[in-house]
Parts: sequence; structure tokens; C-alpha cells
Amino acid sequence: MAERSRRGRGAGRPGTLESPLSATWVPRERERAVLVGVGHGIDESSLDELAALADSAGAEAVDRVVQARSDPDPATFVGRGKLEEIHRRVHASSASLVILDDELSPGQLRTLEERLGVKVIDRTALILDIFALHARSREGKAQVELAQLNYLLPRLRGWGEAMSRLGGGIGTRFGGGETKLEVDRQHIKRRIAKLRRDLKDLSRTREVKRSRRERSGVPQIAIAGYTNAGKSTLMNALTRARVLVADQLFATLDPTVRRITLPDGRAATVSDTVGFVSKLPHDLVEAFRSTLEEVTRASLIVHVADASSREMRGQIEAARSVLAEIGAGTVREVLALNKIDLVSEDDRDRLARRFPEGVQVSALTGEGLEELVTRVARALPHPPVEVTVLVPYGRDEIVARLHREAEVLWSESTEEGTLLRARVGDRELAAVDGYVVGSRHRVG
Ligand code: GTP
Repeated sequence: MAERSRRGRGAGRPGTLESPLSATWVPRERERAVLVGVGHGIDESSLDELAALADSAGAEAVDRVVQARSDPDPATFVGRGKLEEIHRRVHASSASLVILDDELSPGQLRTLEERLGVKVIDRTALILDIFALHARSREGKAQVELAQLNYLLPRLRGWGEAMSRLGGGIGTRFGGGETKLEVDRQHIKRRIAKLRRDLKDLSRTREVKRSRRERSGVPQIAIAGYTNAGKSTLMNALTRARVLVADQLFATLDPTVRRITLPDGRAATVSDTVGFVSKLPHDLVEAFRSTLEEVTRASLIVHVADASSREMRGQIEAARSVLAEIGAGTVREVLALNKIDLVSEDDRDRLARRFPEGVQVSALTGEGLEELVTRVARALPHPPVEVTVLVPYGRDEIVARLHREAEVLWSESTEEGTLLRARVGDRELAAVDGYVVGSRHRVG
């Protein structure tokens, strides 16, 4: 957090947090926000995650209000007394924005804006806004825009008044890059239909690429985990790929697939995925389903957690519950306790006791990465067939392919050619079929 604030995140960004009930983009200074949480047993620290999300979207949390009630008021979400308190605190802290840590009904949002006289957004709008800021690929942008429009559609009533009263609109940070939304239900519905069609095409292309990878038999590793845990940095460290690394929540919205070589000589692909957060809006999970399939179809998940965060256990649980929700709950996992360079020796011992299955690493300094890839190689399923082959000289491409795509156990040069023992998938087996010497057997 401190690191993030020092860099003045949000400063110099084009947009600001905008209300879902308004529609013009008015660039302004970093906005001052009052955070509000309602729930049973809630306290101010329950809003730490919301504060980090607000920071990521370019707003500064200047005050926090919590209300311990389990039945939100149907009209205003918070109770009447609390509403007065929020009003007082908003004006005392010169805030221009109130952010609620839940998803509110369109009516509740409208009523709160009227009563408080400032913009009010809910957790879902905030997360959608951050995703819109970070979407980079065509698919990512279309996915975010679809989720935003689905969120917006039931909230259009009263749009006109709110727009003239407040200015600015969260729906303006569209994945599609539009800065002004046409406030027309039919237009939005047509746009939703078009985005769905485009996404279907894009996901078909993705599917073709994926099935090509799957047919190659090369194991697929997906890097997943709570947002800002260091997934892109780890991906970079593992592959030296140039994936954007930014100290902002959700910096990665598009998975990038790279190849790496494991210590046992096998190749694997590694893909980086979108960051998770607790209570990820359902619309977003739906919209990102095809991207998230990289994780569900992976042979193994490297689950990256931020060991320097006091919230690590909760973040691991939040990430695991998203994984379960998207159907990746049963994929084998290696837990990487990242940012260990920021953790004291004593705390490292404590971590080792609390998370004996975790590998302590620093994607930044490289510490522990060797141990991590060794653990990954051990946890990955091995190719199913073990064979010995004699590849004649002049067919070096076959030897190279085995090194690249199979698991070579040993190899030596003989008079007739290269003698190799390897574990291979069915495709490599077909390619070396004519050169197999001795027996072949299925290992797993
Ligand atoms: P999202 O895409 O937002 O989900 O983030 P991410 O999980 O991909 O995180 P990213 O790699 O962008 O890293 C977030 C911040 O943590 C950056 O400022 C990184 O430099 C920093 N970081 C990542 N790994 C380490 C590490 O091992 N040590 C330290 N000190 N900082 C790290």
C-alpha cells in the first residue's frame, strides 16, 4: 500500500471514479471518498480491501463508516441515523464520493445520491471501473464493456436527472474506449448483442489456439491468485516475457501464454490470468468466462499469494473461492508465497509453519524460484508412455522435438544415432514410432 501511494497512483490518469447514474467524463484531481460497509460483525478494518480497490481506481479513502446490521434498509441500504452520520462525515472531510462495500439496488443508489448530495457507487461499479481502466486486448475490452452494460441497463431510470445534477459517469470508462455513453436502452441492447457475437468469435479463435496447445501434449500452467500478488512479475521472472507489471490492482486483464523449460527438460506453457478479489461481480465472472477457462483447463495452477500482506490468508481463500466458482477448484495447485523479500526472518519461520505446502519466493529478486519450478515439475502430470528410441543422425529435428515436448530421461550418442529414453505423449509417440527400440510401456 505504502509503495503504491508513494507512486501517486491515479495521478495523471485521464478519468476519475464516476457515478453509474451519470454520463460525461470530467477529468479531475484524485477524488476523496468515504467508504461505507454494512454487515454483521463488521469493523473499520473490514474496509481495507475496499480502500485498496478505491486507490487502484484513483480515489483516496478519507474516512470510513461501518454499520453492524444484517438487514440492509430496503430504501437506503444504511439506517436513517447512519445516513445522517455519513452525510456529516462526507461534508466534514470534503469528500465528493461515497463507495459502498456491497452491490446495491438501482433504487438504493439513487436514493442515497439524492440524500447525500454526492456521487454514490457500489462495490460492483468500482470493480467494473478498475477492470475498464486496465483492459488491453480487444477481447478484454469487449468483456468488460459487456459486464458494464449489463450492470447499467437496470440502472438507467433517472439517468437524465442524475446526469445534470452530478456530471461524470462510471459507464464512460468503457472497455471499448468510448468516452460518452448514448443513453438509449435500445442502443445498449443492440450493443450488448453485438458484443456477445464478437466475444463468441473471439472465444472460438482462443479455443482453436488452446486446443492446438492441448493436442501438443505440452502441460499448461496457469498463474492465478489475488490481485496485486505479483502474478505478472512472476510470469516475467519465469519466462522473461514482457508482460505489463504495474503496481495497480488488476493490472492484468488478458492472459498471455508463454513457453518455459522445466528443470527436467520438459517444456510447459505458462499463462497469466486476471487478478481475483473477494466478491468478484457475477457479471464479470460471466463475461470473463472464456479467459478464465485458461485456468480451468490448466494442468496445474501456480497460486500466487502476497506474503507481505497481513490479509494473505483471506486473500488465498478469496482466490480459491473464485477458482471453485469458475470450475477450477480441483485443478492441482502449487502455492507460491511471493514478496518474501519483504518478510522478516521470524515471520518467514511463522509462515513456513502456517503454510507448510507453500514455496517462499520473491519474483522480484529471484529468491526461491528454482525451488518453485522444481515443485511445479514434480506436481505436473508426466507424459504417459515411456520409450527408448534410436534416432539416426540427420534427423536432429526429432531429437530437438523430444527435448522440447517430451520428458527426456537420458540420451547418448551411439554409432548409429542418438539413443534416447523418454516419456512421451501420444503425438510424440506417433512421430517417433519408426525409431522405437525395445519395449514401450504406459506409465500413468
Ligand atoms: P494484477 O494483474 O493486478 O492481479 O496484479 P499481479 O498479481 O499481476 O501483480 P504484479 O505482478 O503487477 O505486481 C504487483 C506489485 O507487486 C508490483 O509493484 C510488483 O513490482 C510488486 N511485486 C511483485 N512481486 C514482488 C516481489 O517478489 N517482491 C516485492 N517486493 N514486490 C513484488
